Amino acid sequence: MRETKFCLLAVAGYTIAVVNGLWADGKMEAMNRVADVEHGIFTNYRERSAGSRARHVEARRYLPGGETRSSTWYAPYPTYMVAGEGAWLEDCDGNRYLDFLNNYTSLIHGHAQPAIVEDAADQLTRGTAFGSASEPQVALAKLLIERVPSIEMLRFTNSGSEATMMMMRAARAFTGRDIIVKMDGGYHGSHDFVEVNVSADLAASDQPAARIEERGVPDAVLNAVMVAPFNDLKAMELLLSEHHRRIAGIIIEPMPNAGGMLPPAPAYLRGLRELADRFGLLLLFDEIVTFRLSSGGMQAAEGVTPDMTALAKIIGGGFPVGAFGGRSDIMAQFEPGGSGALSHSGTFNGNNITMTAGLAAMKRLDQAAIDRINRLGERLGAGINALFETLGIRAQCLGYGSLQQIQWTDAPLATLKDAASAGQGIGKLRELLHLELLNRGVYTSNRGMYCISTPMSGAEINAALEALEGALRALKPYMREVAPRLLAE
Ligand SMILES: Cc1ncc(COP(=O)(O)O)c(C=O)c1O
Repeated sequence: MRETKFCLLAVAGYTIAVVNGLWADGKMEAMNRVADVEHGIFTNYRERSAGSRARHVEARRYLPGGETRSSTWYAPYPTYMVAGEGAWLEDCDGNRYLDFLNNYTSLIHGHAQPAIVEDAADQLTRGTAFGSASEPQVALAKLLIERVPSIEMLRFTNSGSEATMMMMRAARAFTGRDIIVKMDGGYHGSHDFVEVNVSADLAASDQPAARIEERGVPDAVLNAVMVAPFNDLKAMELLLSEHHRRIAGIIIEPMPNAGGMLPPAPAYLRGLRELADRFGLLLLFDEIVTFRLSSGGMQAAEGVTPDMTALAKIIGGGFPVGAFGGRSDIMAQFEPGGSGALSHSGTFNGNNITMTAGLAAMKRLDQAAIDRINRLGERLGAGINALFETLGIRAQCLGYGSLQQIQWTDAPLATLKDAASAGQGIGKLRELLHLELLNRGVYTSNRGMYCISTPMSGAEINAALEALEGALRALKPYMREVAPRLLAE
């Protein structure tokens, strides 16, 4: 009996050992396949970018990570672009790229657009900034106000971050209340009051908890910021009914871009407008990215009128810029001389070069030009979705017009938490796709965003799709091992 037992145990032990061995072998093979894909992509990248590597090594001595923006750094080192023309960029190693990043959506006319260059160069010879009143800022303000009915008056800043900061301050001052509600997962720049839930709260059930993600942002900020889930009117209504007496306004990107280019649900923005009116608070649109979607911004396309709007990116013609504006009774707080007037300074606010270039860029961006690039963007998005279908990849492209973004799930996405969850459990897929597209001459954002510029046509869209198809094919073995949920087979 004891012997039989011993024999059974020995057989069982042997079987487990064999299965374990096979499993370990299989696992090893899978790890090798993953390593092969990664190695191949990184090696190709390194081989074509010796000049970038050398510059990066030098740059790291002076700039942390060799860079000056968190978003433009990527492993193993970022590509050094040295020239741009129209839809094209060239790096220091002589490689050329179709630019679908356009400095994070800001270069709507691509690079070195001749009319913008001419006007800016002409202004350059006559002075960049006088520290005085100047005409170019009036001309650009007039053009923007004529295009966006909700903006009755505005002020310029040097960045979008300053624009949202000043817009929020103006709202607090106007209402006499401290709190601004932002979306869970919404991005509005880098000042302290928007460094709350920049990435969505993945643990939240209904009401996400406000939290600070950046060290160095004081806890006190949480006394002045609350968060709500995007596309969820019920949750917003609940929050406002409880806290509206302390709330100055709601800040929202009509289509959150960094959160994933999630279009708003059909009646969502109008619903927010109604809630803001019902509870007597201000609706603040951050149209820093979405302004490119219609000549009156996404607010015109969606038929919703905010109380204030922040702009930046495209309105500077390729130079640093921001603007905030809205109802004249709110903006009148900045009227100098009155008692309690709000101050607003900035050495280069409204400087001649930005204003002149911005004016040249905006004059060349009528509704017809916008409609054309929106159609190209929709065509790109549809092409990407068709590629996913053909290749049996469970992913999707979302967006609106000239702004498109890959999401690593084929499930419907409503909130920014949904979008953030889609990016979980995919290993280095985003990073590898970005590098592989660079290897194939297409420059996108490293989170999978594409934006269209006016020098582009159908040929550039076809080229982007061809590069993406090749990159996805190269990445399928990686997906199979690291994120099998993405493959339909
Ligand atoms: C929606 C949104 N708001 C604000 C900002 C901040 O603008 P800036 O980078 O000019 O400070 C950005 C920048 O990408 C943005 O996408």
